[in-house]
Amino acid sequence: MTPADIPAVIAIERAAYSAGWPTTVFERELTTNALARYLIAREGPPGAPPVAFGGVWLMVDQAHVVTIAVRPECQRRGFGRLVLHGLVELATLAGMESVTLEVRPSNEPARALYRRYGFYEVGIRKRYYADNHEDAIIMTTEPLDSPAYRARLARLRSELGARFPAGFTARHLEAVLPAWSAAAQEKPGP
Ligand SMILES: CC(C)(COP(=O)(O)OP(=O)(O)OC[C@H]1O[C@@H](n2cnc3c(N)ncnc32)[C@H](O)[C@@H]1OP(=O)(O)O)[C@@H](O)C(=O)NCCC(=O)NCCS
Repeated sequence: MTPADIPAVIAIERAAYSAGWPTTVFERELTTNALARYLIAREGPPGAPPVAFGGVWLMVDQAHVVTIAVRPECQRRGFGRLVLHGLVELATLAGMESVTLEVRPSNEPARALYRRYGFYEVGIRKRYYADNHEDAIIMTTEPLDSPAYRARLARLRSELGARFPAGFTARHLEAVLPAWSAAAQEKPGP
């Protein structure tokens, strides 16, 4: 994601998140937050408007997913998986030990997506969300370099390959580390 994508990404954020949810300060994230990495997914040729985006902070040895959203009319077509996959691959390639995030208990679509990626619940932050004082569920992955998680990521990668048969790495997901393609070819862990 580059500054040129910010207006389209803000439009996705506004459409996908309920009113009252805090908005991301994308300019600052892209220009001054050295920990932040943002991805966008486009449908169509390079330069087509993004349909989804997500961001992660790489903090010492822990990655933290800070946002992920798909344009409402494009949901349930695999783009959430695609972006989350990219964020987890980024964290893996950056040597992070695991990935964490917070999610609202009421957000069943997001919780289901995260469970699919092996996130499990490890705690609650009471009254975490400022707009309605809803608690946050804290979710985390197994160690990213564990054989079990490597096998899970490889299986999910091949599922995405079936969903985006023309090669999701090049056509659908931008701004992943150059090593992405090499990682996508890796064999599943033992
Ligand atoms: C959460 C979100 C990113 C999922 O994106 P998506 O593109 O619809 O997700 P995918 O099509 O990749 O679906 C992946 C899996 O997530 C789960 N899922 C997604 N939407 C779901 C829904 N409405 N109900 C139940 N499960 C759902 C399913 O397990 C799904 O797999 P399946 O389609 O094979 O059943 C999207 O709903 C969104 O943008 N929500 C608003 C913003 C938001 O809540 N972000 C998360 C903040 S913590």
